[in-house]
Amino acid sequence: MEKRALRSQSWFGAQDKDGFTHRSWMRNQGFPGDVFDGRPVIGICNTFSELTPCNAHFRELAQRIKNGIWEAGGLPLEFPVMSLGESNLRPTAMLFRNLASMDVEESIRANPMDGVVLMCGCDKTTPSLIMGAASCDVPAIVLSGGPMLNGRYRGETIGSGTAVWRFTDALRAGKITRQEFMDAESCLSRSAGSCMTMGTASTMACMVESLGLSLPGNAAIPAVDARRGQLAHETGRRIVAMVQEDLRMSQILTRKAFQNAIRANAAIGGSTNAVIHLIAIAGRIGVPLTLEDWDHYGRDVRTIVDLQPSGRFLMEEFYYAGGLPAVLAKLAEHGQLDQDALTANGRTIGENVKDAPNWNSEVIRDYERPLVESGGIAVLRGNLCPDGAVLKPSAASPHLMQHRGRAVVFENIEDYKARIDDPALEVDETSVLVLKHCGPRGYPGMAEVGNMGLPARLLAQGVTDMVRISDARMSGTAFGTVVLHVSPEAALGGPLALVEEGDWIELDVPGRRLHLEVDEAELARRRAAWVAPEPAAKSGYQALYIEHVLQADRGADFDFLVGCRGHAVPRESH
Ligand code: FES
Repeated sequence: MEKRALRSQSWFGAQDKDGFTHRSWMRNQGFPGDVFDGRPVIGICNTFSELTPCNAHFRELAQRIKNGIWEAGGLPLEFPVMSLGESNLRPTAMLFRNLASMDVEESIRANPMDGVVLMCGCDKTTPSLIMGAASCDVPAIVLSGGPMLNGRYRGETIGSGTAVWRFTDALRAGKITRQEFMDAESCLSRSAGSCMTMGTASTMACMVESLGLSLPGNAAIPAVDARRGQLAHETGRRIVAMVQEDLRMSQILTRKAFQNAIRANAAIGGSTNAVIHLIAIAGRIGVPLTLEDWDHYGRDVRTIVDLQPSGRFLMEEFYYAGGLPAVLAKLAEHGQLDQDALTANGRTIGENVKDAPNWNSEVIRDYERPLVESGGIAVLRGNLCPDGAVLKPSAASPHLMQHRGRAVVFENIEDYKARIDDPALEVDETSVLVLKHCGPRGYPGMAEVGNMGLPARLLAQGVTDMVRISDARMSGTAFGTVVLHVSPEAALGGPLALVEEGDWIELDVPGRRLHLEVDEAELARRRAAWVAPEPAAKSGYQALYIEHVLQADRGADFDFLVGCRGHAVPRESH
C-alpha cells in the first residue's frame, strides 16, 4: 500500500522550530527519535478512574492495547478524558455525557494522533467517547472493559442493579430484613467490570459491536477473562491497520449500521438509554435517525436473549453461549441484519457472524421460542407526548400494555419521595404514577428515576408492577411498565406539566398511544395558568446544559454539538 503522509506528521514531521518543539518534549518520556518517522500515532482514550469502578481495571487493558500497537508498527499515546461513573455521579451521570464528549472531541482534534482506541465501559463512557470521536471522524475502534462476573448471594445468582431494585422492594414490603439487605452488598459486584445484567453498559457494548465499531466478540467477554486482554492486544494491532487503510468512522457508522443496532437492541432486550445515545451518535456523524426508526426497525424483532432485567441470565452466561455474534447470526438468518455493513476489522458484519455458534439455547433462544414476540422499543405518541415517549416491552407486564387509570401526580422527585408511602395517598394498583420535572432541563440531566418504586403498602399486598409515566430515563437494569422520555418535558411546558391528580390516562402500547383524557379547552386553561419553573442553575456548566440541551427525542445532545467538524487544525501553537 502506498505510504500516505499521516495527520501526525504535521506535528512531528517538520525539521523546523515547531517540529523540534513537538518532538523534543515528547522525548522526555524516553521515546527514541525514530518513533516520529511517520508511523501511525494512535491515541488511547482512557476513561480509567477509581471513581468509575466499572472502568478501574483500564490501566492493564491500556497496556495490552499498547503492546498490540507497538507490535503493528504504531506509536501508542495514552490520554485521559473525563470518566463518568454511573454509581457515584450526582445529580446524574447523564448531565455530563455531552461535557465528556467535548473533552474527547477536542482532545483528539488538538493532538497529534492519526487514529484512536476508545476505552469504554460504564454506561455514559461509551456514548460520550463515540460522540466525541465521531465529530472528528478519525479512524477509531472501541474496546469495552467487559462485564463483571455474576453476582452470587446465598446460593443464588444476582444481577447488577436488577437485584438492587428487587431487594429494595422486598425490604420496603417487609419481606426481608435490613441485615439481609446489607449482606447482599458485597455479593453483587464480585470482580472488575461493568454491570453484568443487560443494563445500559452491556447494551451499549452490544450497540458498539452491532454498529461495527469494535472487533467481533467485544460486547460480552467478562472483564477478568484472559480473552478480554487478548482482544485488547488485537484491538491495538487493528487500529494501526485502520489508519493505514484510512478506515474512518463515517465509513462504518452508516444508516444501515444504525438499523442493525436497533434490531440488535430488540433481540437482546436492551436498555431504553440506547435510544437517546444512538440518536445523539447519529447526529454527530450526520446520519438521520429518529424515534420512528426505532419503532420501525425494532418492531418485528423478537427478544431472544434471556438476560436480566427482561429474563433470567447474566452476561457471563451470554458470553459462554456465544455472545453477540450468535445473536447477529440469528438476525441474519431471519433477514433482519443488513449483512453488507462494514465493520472495524475491514470485513462486513455478515462475514463476521457467518456460522457463529450458539452453545446454549436457553440463554440465546431459538427464534421460534422467543422471550418476547415483539421486542423493539415501543415509541408512543399522543396528546401527552406530542414529540414521543418510549417503553421497553420486554421489561413490561403484558397485562398492563393496554391500561386506563387515574393519575397520581408527583411534581418532582422530592415530592415523590415525600409522599409515595404516605398512608393518605390515594393510590391502588390501577393508578398511573406520573412524575414531572425529571427531563433533560428539569432535573437537570434527565436522571434514571422513571422506574419509581411502588407504594410500600401495594408491594406488601403483592403488587409487582404499575404503569409509570415521566420525562425521566430508567436504568437499563430496571424493569416494569414504565413510559419514559416523554417529550417535550414538563420543565419546557410539555403536556406532562399539565397533568393533574385524578386525570384519566390511557396507555395503549400495541396502538402506540399515550392519551390524557382531558379536553382541549381544559388543557388550554391549564396551559395559560402554567408558570415555567426556575432553572436549576443560573451559572456554570449546568446553566450551559439547561440552555443548550435538546429534548430526548433528539438525543439530548447540545444544539451546538450536533454534526461532524472533522479533524483539521489550521494553526500552529507557537
Ligand atoms: Fe457502571 Fe452499571 S454502574 S456499568
